[in-house]
Amino acid sequence: MSATNRTFTMIKPDAVANGHIGAILNHINKAGFRIVAMKLTRLSVAEASEFYGVHSERSFFGELVEYMTSGPIVAAILEKDNAVADFRTVIGATDPAKADEGTIRRLYAQSIAANAVHGSDSDENAAIEGAFFFSGREQF
Ligand code: CMP
Repeated sequence: MSATNRTFTMIKPDAVANGHIGAILNHINKAGFRIVAMKLTRLSVAEASEFYGVHSERSFFGELVEYMTSGPIVAAILEKDNAVADFRTVIGATDPAKADEGTIRRLYAQSIAANAVHGSDSDENAAIEGAFFFSGREQF
């Protein structure tokens, strides 16, 4: 299956710390995504700064890096037709207060910073972000 049917996600430190890994993975599977690669890991400050480099000029960048390095995360590559767009529907708006009922962020997020999950915003970024965490032999 081509890269355009894949997206990248992280279950962020708040959701891991609050015991939501299982519920979120179940939600993802029930929405029709296949898990292609997955690991529990923790970002260093340098890694989080690189991953979110596109946001480096934003006012919230320091808060974002501090939060994303505050505890372990689950990184995963997911596969489904129209993966990037469909996954963004499943997770809901960046701000959980604005996320639709039944979305992962509405169900599990704390705030716009601690918003439970990341989802790639384009096919190009899905490929870049997946390769940030996983070698080819870690993808199934
Ligand atoms: P994510 O989809 O992982 O991509 C960038 C992240 O920046 C976003 O989720 C939020 O967690 C975070 N973010 C976006 N806007 C704000 C904000 N106004 N304040 C704090 N964090 C933010």
